[in-house]
Amino acid sequence: MVRFAKIEDLERVNELRKIVNDVHVEGRPDIFKAGFHDELRDFIYDIWDTENKDIIVAERNGVICGFACVQYVSKPESPFMNARTFYDVDEFGVDTAFRRQGVATELIAFIREDAKKRGIDRIELNMWEFNQGALAFYESVGFQTYRRYMELGSD
Ligand SMILES: CC(C)(COP(=O)(O)OP(=O)(O)OC[C@H]1O[C@@H](n2cnc3c(N)ncnc32)[C@H](O)[C@@H]1OP(=O)(O)O)[C@@H](O)C(=O)NCCC(=O)NCCS
Repeated sequence: MVRFAKIEDLERVNELRKIVNDVHVEGRPDIFKAGFHDELRDFIYDIWDTENKDIIVAERNGVICGFACVQYVSKPESPFMNARTFYDVDEFGVDTAFRRQGVATELIAFIREDAKKRGIDRIELNMWEFNQGALAFYESVGFQTYRRYMELGSD
């Protein structure tokens, strides 16, 4: 079952956010701060309090085993770009013990349905290149790469 989070779910959501953060720290320790410090932990309450953001959870047998932090974004026209509206998936993950059981697929199905209800026709997210498991998952549910970040060391 997938639903919007209640405030009492947020401590458990933070356990899952820590798992995702650890994946990022392991993959790019040069970029991500190690540990799950207080500011990062408390950021979930900023998301909770922000009008255009929501927290979605997946449950299996009453246990919260997956989550998504999402944002409804409207960008005005700029000199380069047309005005655009999209549904942004900012944070996303499933507890290690519940992977490969369709939990993340269910979360994305909920997100698609919710986007449709809100009249938003595009869902986007960004991900780190080292995270090939996440890439395989996102592609499996139909996401396509539309933009790239590239890097080059100076030495
Ligand atoms: C990526 C992640 C969310 C996938 O969650 P999940 O619930 O295991 O995904 P599903 O069970 O819905 O997978 C659906 C399909 O996606 C593909 N897939 C999922 N994880 C995969 C992996 N690690 N490697 C290759 N393919 C994968 C498979 O095709 C899978 O179908 P199958 O199990 O029948 O082969 C989960 O592995 C996770 O939380 N990873 C760590 C955190 C993370 O990377 N978050 C995203 C940050 S951008």
